[in-house]
Amino acid sequence: MILLSPAWTSLLYLAASVCFILALRGLSSPRSARRGNLIGALGAVIAVVTVFLSVRLANIPWILAAIAVGSLVAAPVARRVKMTQMPQLVALFNGVGGGAAALVAFLELDHAPDPWLRLAIVFTLLVGAVSFAGSAVTFAKLQELITTRPILFPGLPVLMAAVLVAAVAAAAVVMATGSTALAVALLVLGLAAGTLLVLPVGGADVPIVISLLNAFTGLAVAASGVVLGNVLLVVAGTLVGASGTILTRAMAAAMGRSVAGILFGAFRGGSTAGSTVVSERPVRSSSPEDVAVLLGYAQHVIIVPGYGLAVAQGQHTAAELAQALEARGITVEFAIHPVAGRMPGHMNVLLAEANVPYESLKEMGEINGEFKTADVALVVGANDVVNPAAKSSPGSPIYGMPILEVAAARQVVFLKRSMRPGFAGIENELLYEPQTSLLFGDAKESLAKVLGAVKAL
Ligand code: TAP
Repeated sequence: MILLSPAWTSLLYLAASVCFILALRGLSSPRSARRGNLIGALGAVIAVVTVFLSVRLANIPWILAAIAVGSLVAAPVARRVKMTQMPQLVALFNGVGGGAAALVAFLELDHAPDPWLRLAIVFTLLVGAVSFAGSAVTFAKLQELITTRPILFPGLPVLMAAVLVAAVAAAAVVMATGSTALAVALLVLGLAAGTLLVLPVGGADVPIVISLLNAFTGLAVAASGVVLGNVLLVVAGTLVGASGTILTRAMAAAMGRSVAGILFGAFRGGSTAGSTVVSERPVRSSSPEDVAVLLGYAQHVIIVPGYGLAVAQGQHTAAELAQALEARGITVEFAIHPVAGRMPGHMNVLLAEANVPYESLKEMGEINGEFKTADVALVVGANDVVNPAAKSSPGSPIYGMPILEVAAARQVVFLKRSMRPGFAGIENELLYEPQTSLLFGDAKESLAKVLGAVKAL
């Protein structure tokens, strides 16, 4: 039964679009991100309810069952996921979106007499299938179900080129004739292209590819909006496509890479993961008491959080340590690298959880000039984001990535468990410098010991 007039439907779609735009605006700052997320969810609810009230739907029990199954699976997964596993969850959800858009387009093929409408269908089929398969492979990589290193084999570029040529040919025939068999072939070719596109990408580049695939899903959804004649899908898909593209470019720039370099560099065999060999050279190790003395008698301390802080869940202890030092009149700041951790904004979210004031969080551009006046740079579970190889070793996988200039501080203290490298798998020469000392152990435990020793000073 149709309860809403076209005018009301348009108005509600407009309201949902405004919600999506406000959601993106909210998500641009940690302060307003939670609100932004809720506004986005409200927009989605308005959109779904409007469809139910404005379209003569067939198979309503099936649709409700699908919504119930999706909600029952997704809600507990989203609740239980660890912050460090967020990128693979995003990959999974994103892939499902691309796959859904492709299936919708496939089902609409029978009702599309116009070749131009079929153009939107073949676009959705291909891009949605690429996004689905590519996201599934990135999920498998990040979940370590397969190796995170680039997977390359002889003839890969030729195979990829052949798949793309075949896909374009199949797309042209489907557009001209509406052939269902060739539409299935196009779907299969899209799945193959998505897999081949992502297999050779490895290491730190995988999250950038997730963001790129997210943009692809947005485009596929927008095109499916054209297929279904649904303006809201066009708007929402375009917003996802645009924001995914902006995020992809920002992440690539923060890692000193180009998007084309990530995708096609991999085809040329440009591995993004380095060696994981750990050297046996001597380092200066410290006790918690030594570190407490260094910190407790400093004037200016900069804490550099990284992935290890998130793994150890040491954010609350780090916040307490900062407070204890501030109580002694010491200036304490947190230096935030844009790709520290495993997802954009990871450190902001982590420290916000521990109620570290936003004013204490300093972005890379803002803090880098301050290291030279800092007495101690306390690096907690970070490695790649402070590795000078990014500036000095042209062959290194992180070469070109802007880093936090901790080496300029008078003393550098690393809290980590071993001499193992970080995500990029490369050694950090800074660990062997004379002004550097290491406190070995789990970041949370080490921070607690240092905190106890500071309080005892
Ligand atoms: P990493 O370079 O990965 O270094 C993390 C360090 O934490 C390691 O040295 C590790 O050494 C230590 N660690 C791990 N668990 C620990 C624990 N429980 N307690 C104490 N230390 C622990 O981290 P980073 O400096 O934050 O750099 C991030 C890297 O991830 C970059 O290469 C970046 O490109 C990549 N990446 C970023 C993103 C985004 S968007 N943020 C997404 C994916 C990948 P031990 O094993 O010796 O303890």
